[in-house]
Amino acid sequence: MKRIIIPIIIAAVMSGCAPKAQNETAPAPNKGEILREILNARKSIRKFAEDKPVTDDVMLDILWAANGINREDGRRTAPSAVNAQDIVMYVCKEDGTYLYKPQTEELEKISGTDVRPIIASFNKFALTNPVVLLCSDYSKFARFSPEAAAKYGAMDAGYVSQNIYIYCAANNMATVACAPGMDNKAVQEALLLPETMVPLIYHPVGYPAE
Ligand SMILES: Cc1cc2nc3c(=O)[nH]c(=O)nc-3n(C[C@H](O)[C@H](O)[C@H](O)COP(=O)(O)O)c2cc1C
Repeated sequence: MKRIIIPIIIAAVMSGCAPKAQNETAPAPNKGEILREILNARKSIRKFAEDKPVTDDVMLDILWAANGINREDGRRTAPSAVNAQDIVMYVCKEDGTYLYKPQTEELEKISGTDVRPIIASFNKFALTNPVVLLCSDYSKFARFSPEAAAKYGAMDAGYVSQNIYIYCAANNMATVACAPGMDNKAVQEALLLPETMVPLIYHPVGYPAE
């Protein structure tokens, strides 16, 4: 699946190119105004529309905004401690779990298991929608102490999480960051992840219920 759509607002904010005014009397909002509008709309939403699924293209767009490659040298939309780029994103759905590959902007199916009941045992509202699971690859911090790795991983996940919020706010979509109740060992076993790939936070995504 290839990402083909970049939302106009996000593209404008990220690329530094505010849309040009169509005429003298109706100037387009500047970047600061667009960003302010988006941040003003940022909030946690836990009730999702049942009749509006998230398409594959939209999901790839969310993932690019969250932690995709935005520069020639491979750096990302989210910062990371020592540029470790440790945050790995998985999409968890009814038919299985998919790994986001930022280099090709593709999703690769890695498991036929629906891990949402494990991930979201305390957040039942997340069981009906695709869930973006953020893991930190602690092996990227091997030269640091385990405490430092945990701290850097958590902070890096926070930036990616906020990018998901911002994308959803800009596109009238719904999401909420969720962390507690995640049985990391069970998630790792279900997805055959190494111990160093640590689930930190997850985001159900969808459209707000009317
Ligand atoms: C690290 C973290 C963990 C969170 N975990 C949950 C959660 O498990 N369940 C939930 O419903 N909301 C969770 N939230 C969302 C917060 O409850 C929410 O951000 C807070 O109530 C403020 O609301 P707002 O996001 O609309 O400003 C979490 C938020 C963060 C940042």
